[in-house]
Amino acid sequence: MLTIIENILDDEQVRDFREKLKAATWTDGADSAGTRSVKVKQNLQLSRQNPLSVELGNIILRKLGNDPLFISASLAEKIWPPIFNLYQDGGHYGTHSDAALMRLAEANMTIRSDLSATLFLSEPDEYDGGELVIEERYGAQPVKLAAGDMVLYPSSSLHQVTPVTRGQRICAITWMQSAVADASAREMLFDLDQTIQSLTQDRPHDDPDIDRLIHVYHNMLRRWAAV
Ligand code: NI
Repeated sequence: MLTIIENILDDEQVRDFREKLKAATWTDGADSAGTRSVKVKQNLQLSRQNPLSVELGNIILRKLGNDPLFISASLAEKIWPPIFNLYQDGGHYGTHSDAALMRLAEANMTIRSDLSATLFLSEPDEYDGGELVIEERYGAQPVKLAAGDMVLYPSSSLHQVTPVTRGQRICAITWMQSAVADASAREMLFDLDQTIQSLTQDRPHDDPDIDRLIHVYHNMLRRWAAV
């Protein structure tokens, strides 16, 4: 399942991010690729140690932590500090899968990547190519979103970024471990939660049927969550 979450960052935040990133020092993204993916990865990256990376990454993490749709879709338990990357001049990232276990030594944290996320920071008309193509059960899905929007997709999927043939494509990416590892269980919880949210809109505040559905939601979450 792909989930698109709009407006993680508003227009003003996107402008601020872009302004700051313009002056940043980018390094070769292949430096941080695994031995297999180094062959297919051709982009620029902001070092994780760069203070700007930490500053902007923390803003994204705060926004995610307060976004009901993100929380409902991901049930994220641990989130990797966002990484900023830039594709230009034919830069691309060929078909690959993300590492299942990721170790962040400085935080003494290991996460199992259940979900991957790409937050677009360039507008689609600023560059040609640069689609994130995700291979899903029902075929390949190309994704290219407005600046400030994010796509959430299974880390287990094969995916690629097609060559950027004009302009610059700047994104932030991250990975997360979900409290519910099983993707189909997570999807059912998401569907149920979204249904509850929509029913809540036109029912009285103390509707007993909604209370019952919330009760079921939490009991399913209790059954499947591992924290
Ligand atoms: Ni990837």
